[in-house]
Amino acid sequence: MKNIDSRSHVRGESIYVDDIPVREGTLYGAVFGAPHAHGRITALDTAKAANATNVFRVLTAADIPGENQIGGIIPDEPLLAADAFHFQGQPIAIVLAESEEAARAALSLIHLEFEPLPVITDPRQARAQGELIQPPRTFKLGDVDSAWTNCTHIFEGRAESGGQEHLYIEAQGAYAYLTEQGGLQIFSSTQGPTAVQRTTTRVLAIGMHQIEVDVTRLGGGFGGKEDQATPWAVMAGLGALCTRRPVKIVLHRLDDMRMTGKRHPYSSDFKIGLDGDFKILAYEVTFHQDAGAAADLSPAVMERTLFHCTNSYFVPNVRATAYSCRTHLPPNTAFRGFGGPQGMFVIEAAICKAAEALGVKPAQIQKRNLLEEGDAFPYGQTTSGCRALASWNQLERSQGTAELEAGIAAFNETNRFIKKGLAFQPICFGISFTKTHMNQASALVHIYTDGTVGISTGAVEMGQGVNTKMLQVAAELFSIEPSRIKMETTNTTRVANTSPTAASSSADLNGKALEKACHCLRDRLCHTAAGILGHGRADRIQLREEKVFDGDMETDLSWAKLVEGAYFQRVSLSQQAHYATPGLHFDTETEKGEPFAYHVYGTAALVAVVDVIRGTYHFETVRLVHDFGRSMNKTIDLGQVEGGLVQGIGWMTMEELLYNEEGRLLSNALSTYKVPDIYAVPEEIAVEFLETEGSPLALLKSKAVGEPPLMYGLGAYFALRDAIRAWRDTADLPLAAPMTPERVLMALHGPHPVKPVPEESPAIA
Ligand code: MTE
Ligand code: GUN
Ligand code: MOS
Repeated sequence: MKNIDSRSHVRGESIYVDDIPVREGTLYGAVFGAPHAHGRITALDTAKAANATNVFRVLTAADIPGENQIGGIIPDEPLLAADAFHFQGQPIAIVLAESEEAARAALSLIHLEFEPLPVITDPRQARAQGELIQPPRTFKLGDVDSAWTNCTHIFEGRAESGGQEHLYIEAQGAYAYLTEQGGLQIFSSTQGPTAVQRTTTRVLAIGMHQIEVDVTRLGGGFGGKEDQATPWAVMAGLGALCTRRPVKIVLHRLDDMRMTGKRHPYSSDFKIGLDGDFKILAYEVTFHQDAGAAADLSPAVMERTLFHCTNSYFVPNVRATAYSCRTHLPPNTAFRGFGGPQGMFVIEAAICKAAEALGVKPAQIQKRNLLEEGDAFPYGQTTSGCRALASWNQLERSQGTAELEAGIAAFNETNRFIKKGLAFQPICFGISFTKTHMNQASALVHIYTDGTVGISTGAVEMGQGVNTKMLQVAAELFSIEPSRIKMETTNTTRVANTSPTAASSSADLNGKALEKACHCLRDRLCHTAAGILGHGRADRIQLREEKVFDGDMETDLSWAKLVEGAYFQRVSLSQQAHYATPGLHFDTETEKGEPFAYHVYGTAALVAVVDVIRGTYHFETVRLVHDFGRSMNKTIDLGQVEGGLVQGIGWMTMEELLYNEEGRLLSNALSTYKVPDIYAVPEEIAVEFLETEGSPLALLKSKAVGEPPLMYGLGAYFALRDAIRAWRDTADLPLAAPMTPERVLMALHGPHPVKPVPEESPAIA
């Protein structure tokens, strides 16, 4: 089944926040952000801006009726900075005007005086100064300290990975207006409608019951709207409350890039020990997460870094410690993989370093250490349905990686100035929110008297196809045509207390709730049919669109007729249901438990081609075997794999986020921040489905697919490094991503070690 949004997307008919027809009297908001990264506010004068043409009002922290606080995990972030600011672009005031242009024009009339304070942009420096978001956490397995003596080879090093701009096509935005009796309606481009509702309650001091948050769909989220869609929605709500007029705030792309947080950069130290057979015996790692200026989701992201610090390898002795470091950058946030990719990059870097020093290919070490059935992760859970080796072997067998490797070796022999490199990239990603309580969802199904169906769940459609999957569930359980079913908007009044659509879990969680609701309705309808047919044996009834079956006999009851009959018999045609993933638990004292419903596995092989003279490169082929379980929608799942892969390649190669020492974003536009376009996509992406049993905790045994494929992109870094090694020794080359063409050129021809981050880059004001 095709994505149900594809037609309206292609025709430009899909509705996003900025497409909602505005009500008469709508005001447009523009946000005034801090001009410096750290300072104490000594004076703020908004009078001139407020008096400007077509400006209706300017709001500051003083206008907030409730708590000036938006921090979720840790209450450390004001909606509007009042006494001090902690990153460039931190919201301080909101101009509300009759047009967006008028609002933006008045921003320059706001007068701010401040005393500049020292700026930290380096997480290690933050740690040294005791600037931590929370105390560090350590995951342990075995006994690392005594394991080193058994190691034949020990390597130490540092690995750095950069941030990543989400670049959802739809920028952050919200539209809010008052309804009657103190009610507030908010349309938000958010992954977390309940988070918007909860925070609005806090800031505006009105009950959650008064706030209705509605989400049609997002033009992409990628984690950037899990937590950071909230402030703009709360600001729109605040504006509506203060002016009693509808308020729309949609960020300009440059403001979005400047003011919102991104994937967390990490700077990490590792030590890895192997025996004579390249078995990894011990691994020690210290992560420095650049949290930015406030906690946001950083503690949860950091936790997932620890969960995934050994990727798909079994390591008997591990000690992994993570520091969440407070700097003066915009608070970094969720981004596809949620800290997992950063954790996995370091062990891949460690293996690469060991391989380069030992003069072997990393694949030799990787394959030797893959997880097997029953192996323990550092957090105590053991593998079940492990597909690490199975996916690797299938890749070798059916994707011809041996010939690929031989071909590359031969190519490099005969080509002096073009070099090819190969990397294998296994992945293992845990499915579930790491916070156990978040693994719940609800659904609400209405069958209307004409036999059509409306479905609401807590899941937000952001391009990943969750609505299509929900629709498939209902169509299958009711045995009716998809055209009878409508996916409703995600709405906090219809489905309450939702977890954000995140952690790749939304299809599983919401789909299971929906399954439950549909089962209830199906049972009721089967009973009704059995009653109508006069025998009362509901178990004999099979629902069908055209003719309901009684055993193997066709009846003259159609679905629509049965529904109508049920209505006249006063049988409820609506059902709500709730689902919570069974069996999950985690103890943060011992750092052990069963945090994940299941794991997703897979292995990719990536081939990079480097132009040695220019430092430019492309990816000739990516072949991968991915564990989809029993994919319920291969078109959508394939799209997720391809999109995730390319996004991961972008992070590892061309996407270079640069802040200067004053905490100013230099890569602040698409002229200076490069994302993969059609030309950067690998020439070939061959995806093979590793058909497995799936997991009973996966929706229809179709495994979660949203985030895991991004981590195949890690291999892009190592494939480039392999190509560079065909030209020159890389032993002293720092393990730092992204591997931009500039870095590749320096790696090929510059002195080693190459400085990991250039000082300045040209920027657009
Ligand atoms: N795919 C598209 N097209 N757009 C997105 O914003 N977000 C990703 C992934 N795939 C995203 C996407 C992220 S970060 C997550 S967590 C999952 O989708 C969320 O959706 P799911 O739980 O339905 O997989
Ligand atoms: N995104 C990916 N994983 C997670 C998670 O564990 N928690 C949250 N909140 N978001 C995620
Ligand atoms: Mo995805 S980072 O869990 O929104």
